[in-house]
Amino acid sequence: MLIWLHSRMSAQIDVRLEALASGAAAPQVSSGMSARAPAAETSRTFYLETFGCQMNVHDSEKVAGVLSSRGYRQVDSSENAALVLFNTCSIREKAAQKVFSRLGQYKAGQDGGRIIGVLGCVAQQEGEEIFERAPWVSLVCGSASYRKLPELLAALESGNRRVTGLDTDTDETFETEMTRRDHPFRAYLTIIEGCNKACSYCVVPYTRGPERSRASRAILEEVRRLADAGYSEVQLLGQTVNSYRDPSPRRMSFSELLAAVAGVPGIRRVRFTTSHPSDFGKDIVADIEAVPAICDHVHLPVQSGSTKILRAMQRTYTHEQYLEKIALIRAARRPISVTTDIIVGFPGESEQDFQETLTLLDEAQYDGAFSFKYSPRPNTPALTMSDPIPEEEKGRRLMIVQERQRQIQTMRNETLVGQSFEVLVDGQSRRANQWAGRSSSNRVVNFTSPRSNLLGEYIQVRVTRAGPNSLVGEHDI
Ligand code: 5AD
Ligand code: SF4
Repeated sequence: MLIWLHSRMSAQIDVRLEALASGAAAPQVSSGMSARAPAAETSRTFYLETFGCQMNVHDSEKVAGVLSSRGYRQVDSSENAALVLFNTCSIREKAAQKVFSRLGQYKAGQDGGRIIGVLGCVAQQEGEEIFERAPWVSLVCGSASYRKLPELLAALESGNRRVTGLDTDTDETFETEMTRRDHPFRAYLTIIEGCNKACSYCVVPYTRGPERSRASRAILEEVRRLADAGYSEVQLLGQTVNSYRDPSPRRMSFSELLAAVAGVPGIRRVRFTTSHPSDFGKDIVADIEAVPAICDHVHLPVQSGSTKILRAMQRTYTHEQYLEKIALIRAARRPISVTTDIIVGFPGESEQDFQETLTLLDEAQYDGAFSFKYSPRPNTPALTMSDPIPEEEKGRRLMIVQERQRQIQTMRNETLVGQSFEVLVDGQSRRANQWAGRSSSNRVVNFTSPRSNLLGEYIQVRVTRAGPNSLVGEHDI
């Protein structure tokens, strides 16, 4: 599921620097640094702050890996950094505004001589205009140009004042030999970058460029290395992950790839996000049924329940066609949880259209939903559409959607009381014996256990209580 966040990536989390280049040839950050003079050490520190979705979080892991392999050391405060990078999100206006207000805190003269760089979607969208709005910025680079980052940094180091990487017309993906991963048990892995859909509200095709899939062999080799490094859960990422097209002669389909990833020894869980309904077929459901390691969760954004609005959004399916996909999933032999994204207040959305979204919530019975007020974005076709919905009305519709969905989730979760689920433990509370983890269906499960050292373990938890957003249980020993 896409989790929208704003993380100040901490250098203190249990971070494993993965030597993803085969074997021992990979550079070691710590030994590289100790070989340097102290002055060079301070000048080669970086701070990286991430806004936005999991794709951005993972891009930041890759950027951190590339910088580390060039002798930079990550620090967890911009105070101590020679290079301050913001990996940005522009999916909605608020997200983009947040970036500029953060940049404002580094105004020229107050930046202590640091190099300030803007990466990601705001970089791609605003381009060189960022230098106008924030003249203290020196580096502007969109995600389709990250492979150029070492060159761009070298140009800055050799005295260039401003550098940009803004191409999107590339066939390449951002392959790196060094990817640092900041989650101790779950590894993210991008299998397809960019997007070839043309949803009329969305900046992604513009900011991340056209779709580029990675070769299946390279993906599987990386999964093997991840398993060898101790990761047991892999999350395959893409804006439209199920539109994956293997560019190599092997021509693996997405569902074949899912099964192959799940078959790598040591991998216990495979997740994938985000699926586009038009490319979602029963082969994926059959995979989930047949292969226990493929998690029983599909994130399938619907955006609207009104076929008229879906057409205006250029979503390429109708209300009924979408429900057919849900029916495929619900007919599976094991229960599969389904989550979605909803936009309310798209231009021209009448009360009747909105009611159709509420009807769809009742029909689809989602296990989770992210809902948003429509936000007009630069360069998108929807920007010029007439009949805008007032902000206040968008807010009203959003509250209604969220309340309806909360009721649905409460009811669905209550049916799970008494059942037992396997949970990957990923959190420990300060209170004794309290733990947190996620089920295969991606539900948050808080539970008690008499045992210690459970982090990273897969254990059975019996559910004793349910709320709309999480389950409570006990270690089922
Ligand atoms: N306004 C509001 N929500 C948007 N999303 C994408 N673009 C916009 C926009 N312009 C939402 C969609 C998408 C999710 C990641 O963000 O629901 O699935
Ligand atoms: Fe945006 Fe649509 Fe592509 Fe998703 S499928 S990234 S919403 S254009």
